[in-house]
Amino acid sequence: MKSNQNILVRLFKLGAEKTVWFYSCILISILLSISSTIKPLITSKAIDVGILEKNESFLIQMLVWITILTFLEVVLQYVLILFSNLIAQDVIYDLRMKLYKKLIYFKTAFFDRTSNGVLVTRSVSDIETIATVYKDGILMMFGDILRIIFVLIAMFYENWILAIISFMILPVMYFITRFFQKTLKKVFADERNATARLNSFVQERLSGMSIIQLFNRQKIEFKKFESINSEVTKAYLKTVFYFSLFFPIVELISSVAIGFVIFTGALMLNYKLSVSAGEIIAFVMFINMLMRPIRQIADRFNQIQRGVVGAERVLNLIDSHEELNNSGTIECKKIDGTISFQNVHFSYIENEEILKGISFDVKKGQTIAIVGTTGAGKSTIINLLSRFYDISSGKILIDGISVKEYKLSAIRSQIAVVLQDVFLFNSSILENITFGDKNISIEEVIQAAKEIEVHDFIMSLPDGYNHKVSERGNSMSLGQRQLISFLRAYLVNPSILVLDEATSSVDTITEEFIQKATEKLTQNRTSIIIAHRLATVQQADKILVLNKGKIVEQGTHTELLKNNSTYFNLYQSQFTEDNELVN
Ligand SMILES: Nc1ncnc2c1ncn2[C@@H]1O[C@H](COP(=O)(O)OP(=O)(O)O)[C@@H](O)[C@H]1O
Ligand SMILES: [Mg+2]
Repeated sequence: MKSNQNILVRLFKLGAEKTVWFYSCILISILLSISSTIKPLITSKAIDVGILEKNESFLIQMLVWITILTFLEVVLQYVLILFSNLIAQDVIYDLRMKLYKKLIYFKTAFFDRTSNGVLVTRSVSDIETIATVYKDGILMMFGDILRIIFVLIAMFYENWILAIISFMILPVMYFITRFFQKTLKKVFADERNATARLNSFVQERLSGMSIIQLFNRQKIEFKKFESINSEVTKAYLKTVFYFSLFFPIVELISSVAIGFVIFTGALMLNYKLSVSAGEIIAFVMFINMLMRPIRQIADRFNQIQRGVVGAERVLNLIDSHEELNNSGTIECKKIDGTISFQNVHFSYIENEEILKGISFDVKKGQTIAIVGTTGAGKSTIINLLSRFYDISSGKILIDGISVKEYKLSAIRSQIAVVLQDVFLFNSSILENITFGDKNISIEEVIQAAKEIEVHDFIMSLPDGYNHKVSERGNSMSLGQRQLISFLRAYLVNPSILVLDEATSSVDTITEEFIQKATEKLTQNRTSIIIAHRLATVQQADKILVLNKGKIVEQGTHTELLKNNSTYFNLYQSQFTEDNELVN
């Protein structure tokens, strides 16, 4: 509860930052409350003096006032709605910017454990609910409370006996509102959770649709979807159930109250106690006026509640510190590219050590290869070198300086990585290569493409460099995507190049392209090549054989073959495999 209040205070402050709109809204709320409280008083006089005492000119005068006030209210209402929406949209615009700015610096480990669906919900629909805090929430609630206070004062001013009679409904209203408020808070939370589950389910299944279809999992997946879907519907219907129950009950109570007031008023008239027909009618209007804000306060509470739940999630993300520690200060335009791993230990998940004391050195301009079975930890070494994760112990040095002492951006601009699975964005080939960097001209790109001999391939695509890549690059083959990725890496002109199984799943023609590009790319720069096919690593200056997080052998191809152990076995098995394929 306390944290809810803190969040509300924060949201309030964010709104108040929109000074002009915010204070205009407050002023307008005050004016509206005054105006709407005065109207029943005028009506009461109009009836007592204008109608009952047949004072026509007074009656017309009162009607003119009511008309003016009504017109004024319409205009003020309009401005209030407009301004409160402006505040809402402006605040959530800011929040979206803040959140996105945070997200793009979060560390990889954060994305490992947080599903995309959840993040999409946070940055789209949760932020959306925050808007209601402003447009239907705090400002309107302020107006409502003000109106209730003014109406109560006016009632006592008009007739204290009828005022006390009307007051008797207040405790009843209070308890009913409390009850619904508590219940609705719970059902709304359930509804939001169910929606978030639906979001992440759909998101994930859409990404893996081809797997679902390939393994004929449609029926099972559909069953799962059915249950999640019905959960959402149930949760939503529950909110509707309580919500729709609330209004008729409030209506009933106010009707009973009005009945009591008219009855008491009639009795008082009968016994010639101080009351007038105008006053009784004014009280009917007052009770209706009390009911509306009281009824709406519950609604507003729920809107605010919803917004607070959404805001809590969004603000938690905005406040969290999931960025990789970037306190390094060393900026460098160009590095030599010597790499040294010294007894590096690392685990993604606590107590599950993946790298168990890795040590190796790469001299400037050398090409080293890492081989080993799947899951041995090859890619992990690369992840650590480009600091996607931080190590548990040991040292990783580039040019003799710990990677932590460099600025993250410095390290990453010096290391280019070509991964096995290349992600392309849904835009043109050119934009995918330059990432929209206007400093890189198309001529430069073409020049580079010619140098690593992928120009002809790109020109063979419809529209050439302007070829539009469909979502996630699915319209291009893996090998084609890899060539784009090579070009990306080449253009960066990095000091260190990393190829992570870049040739493991491409056809022979593409492999030839890649082979040529690789030769060009590795020239005069430190390179780390991870490869399945040992054919690609034979030329390396040094080969590391990795097994279960440990380097079991290292040396050149010929040296390792002489050893007659792990590498030799790998080589043997692949040699026979390839032979079998040929036969
Ligand atoms: N993000 C991650 N979170 C948890 N475990 C991971 C993560 N990435 C890889 N692993 C685990 O670390 C081990 C080594 O993975 P990896 O370095 O990708 O192997 P390789 O590239 O040699 O096939 C594997 O057991 C894998 O399951
Ligand atoms: Mg790997």
